Amino acid sequence: MSPFLLTRTLPVDATEAALRADVLAGLSRRPKTLPPKWFYDARGSELFEEITRLPEYYPTRAEREILVARAADIAEASGARTLIELGSGSSEKTRHLLDALDRLHSYVPVDVSESALTGAAEALLAERPELNVHALIADFTGGLALPGTPGPRLVAFLGGTIGNLLPEERATFLHSVRSILSPGDALLLGTDLVKEPETLVAAYDDAAGVTAAFNKNVLEVVNRELDADFDPAAFDHVARWDADAEWIEMRLRARSVLTVKIHELDLVVSFEEGEELRTEVSAKFRRERVRDELGAAGLRLDQWWTDSADRFAVSLATAV
Ligand code: SAH
Ligand code: TRP
Repeated sequence: MSPFLLTRTLPVDATEAALRADVLAGLSRRPKTLPPKWFYDARGSELFEEITRLPEYYPTRAEREILVARAADIAEASGARTLIELGSGSSEKTRHLLDALDRLHSYVPVDVSESALTGAAEALLAERPELNVHALIADFTGGLALPGTPGPRLVAFLGGTIGNLLPEERATFLHSVRSILSPGDALLLGTDLVKEPETLVAAYDDAAGVTAAFNKNVLEVVNRELDADFDPAAFDHVARWDADAEWIEMRLRARSVLTVKIHELDLVVSFEEGEELRTEVSAKFRRERVRDELGAAGLRLDQWWTDSADRFAVSLATAV
C-alpha cells in the first residue's frame, strides 16, 4: 500500500461552480457576504499559517498546550486506529496526537486546500515514513466519502474552525459528523472561548496587518477565478465583537463609493462609501453551548479540557 494517497472528491469545476454560485448569491444580498472557505487558496493557507504565529493570535498556542497535555488521555480514551481530521491545514498541532496514538493505522486529513494537504503530507511522511496518509480534498460541510480504514475512528476538528460556521450550519455539520461515527468512535473538537473583547479583537486585527491581508485575499481569489477587478486597497479590514451572537465578525469596508465588475458572472456590484462586506464569523463558546450543541446532534460531551489561561477548550465526545 502506498503511504500517501491524495483523493479529490471536489472536482475542480465543481469548486468553480460553487464559487460562482456563492459569489452571485452573496454579493446580490444586503449586507453583502462571501463564505469563508474561499479564503484558502495557496496564498490564503500560507497567510493563515502566518496568523498562527502572531503574538496576538493565541488560539493556536492555547490549543497546542491542551493537546500536548492531553494527548495520552485522548489516545487512551479513543484507542483510535484511524484519525480523520477536518480542515487539517498544515497538520502542525496534529503531530502531538499522531505521536500519542500508538495503535494508529491511517491518518485522513480533509481540507479544501490542496496546497495545504500536500505540504502537510510531505512534512509528516518525512518524519513518519510508516504512516498511511490518505488525504482528501473535500468540503467538510458536504457528505464525506471516507476511505475504508480500520476503526475505532477519531474525528478531529481543531483550530476553532467550527466557530466559522453559522449556528444553523453548525447543527447540520454536527449531525453529519454524528452520522459517520460508529459505536466506539469519538469526536475531538477545538473551540475558542468567550473572553474580553479586547483580546478577541486583537487576535483578528493584528498590528502587523497579516489578518487584514488574509481577509483581503478572498478578493484576490474572486479576481483570479471569476475575472473580477476588486481593488483590495480600496477596502479596510474590520474585526468586530458581536456581544449578542458571541462572535467576532470580519468585514471588508469600502473606503469610497466604488463598482466592481465580475466578468465571468456578467455582474457589476456597487458599494456605497463605508459599505461592509461580511467575510467571516468566528464564534466563541462557553461549555454549556458546546455541550448543548453536541447533545442536539446525538453526541455526549465526555471530556472538556482547557489551557492554563482558560482561553480555549478541547472536547472529547462520543455518540449516544
Ligand atoms: N486545523 C488547522 C487549520 C485551521 S484553518 C489549525 O488548527 O491550525 C481552517 C482550515 O479549514 C483551512 O486549512 C481551510 O482550508 C479548511 N477549510 C475551511 N473551510 C473548509 C471546508 N468547507 N471544507 C474543508 N476544509 C475547509
Ligand atoms: N478558524 C480560525 C479562527 O476563527 C480562522 C481564522 C483566523 C480567520 N483568523 C482569521 C478567518 C481571520 C478569517 C479571518 O480563529
